[in-house]
Amino acid sequence: MTPPSSETGRAAPGPPGTHAGPRSYTRPLSEAAGRIGFGPVLGIETSCDETAAAVVDGAGIRSNVVSSQVPVHRLYGGVVPEIASRHHLELVIPVVDRALEQAGVALADLAGVAVTHGPGLIGALLVGVAAAKALAFAAGLPLVGVHHLEGHIYANFLAHPDLRPPVLGLIVSGGHTELILMVDHGEFRLLGRTRDDAAGEAFDKIARILGLPYPGGPALEKLAEGGDPAAIPFPRAMMGPEGGLDFSFSGLKTAALHFLQQLAPAAPATAPAGPESLKDFAASFQQAIVDVCVAKTVRAAEETGVERVLLAGGVAANRRLREDLAGACAQRGLTLYVPPPELCTDNAAMIAAAGLHRLATGRTSGWDLDADPNLPLYS
Ligand code: KG4
Ligand code: ZN
Repeated sequence: MTPPSSETGRAAPGPPGTHAGPRSYTRPLSEAAGRIGFGPVLGIETSCDETAAAVVDGAGIRSNVVSSQVPVHRLYGGVVPEIASRHHLELVIPVVDRALEQAGVALADLAGVAVTHGPGLIGALLVGVAAAKALAFAAGLPLVGVHHLEGHIYANFLAHPDLRPPVLGLIVSGGHTELILMVDHGEFRLLGRTRDDAAGEAFDKIARILGLPYPGGPALEKLAEGGDPAAIPFPRAMMGPEGGLDFSFSGLKTAALHFLQQLAPAAPATAPAGPESLKDFAASFQQAIVDVCVAKTVRAAEETGVERVLLAGGVAANRRLREDLAGACAQRGLTLYVPPPELCTDNAAMIAAAGLHRLATGRTSGWDLDADPNLPLYS
């Protein structure tokens, strides 16, 4: 095919793996789009159990369609990778069609196609990558692969046009708990990460033991409402200097499990006690996760001297985390950026936003773009 002309405001696809473009680029999304006349970007996200497509331009979100597979996977208490892939296959094109329709644009109007190419479930990722490649190739558009966590970070750039790097990021999702330093667009440094479970994973596992529906985070948060967060002194791991900026939630998970087994040794965990005890248990468990996340983020801000902080990932939808982190940041004069809850959990608007930035700085992907379940964010 003929590469799209740059006269149309579109960047031609670069050679495989090219990441050209100015490193000192620090403009917000709207400027990135406006500077070179970028039109709308289609984003596609299929890394786990949401089939999502969205259209984003410099003015913001034009459409954001998420078809959740949660009801399907709920039957099994968690995501079944093979079932996820099959559903993505059935849903991806209808979801893309709906996103384009709601945005009022045709494929030919787009400036590019962005897609999550990792990390995530390999079969699920492959569906999105194949769809994005086919659409981009057929319409003569540039293709851009986006790291899933980079997408989560860009939910904040969508929601807060004034946000600029450098910014410290706490990313808390079902698969990741990481503290990163975003030095500039496209330039990330890992400061700390979980050594075992991710925060969302800990929520999901304990919720499952309690017999709460998948995904466990929102269900456990609901159960915690009105509970006493100080009722049970659950451990906060790796809080000493030797823990640095890393996290560990497996000890908390074990302590929570033991607590439930002591309460109801005969019928572990499903109904350990009256509703008040359950509420206290959920509130105390949630608070233990939140306290560690807040303390480590504050420590990272002190160590780096960075004054802007962003929260990202599915667990960022948790109200207690949002409130406590906001309080801690305000106390220290740090500016906190948090996306609205619907942009915290997996969606394609965040992928399109990250893709728009990549396209605006000429960082396109080759046609050999591949899905990578372990894709690193840090170079
Ligand atoms: O980012 P995300 O949608 O998918 C991944 O990339 O993993 O995050 C999903 C995770 C799940 O573990 C879910 O239980 C958790 O985010 N989560 C929450 C809340 N909403 C979603 N955890 C705690 N409180 C919430 N309100
Ligand atoms: Zn995610």
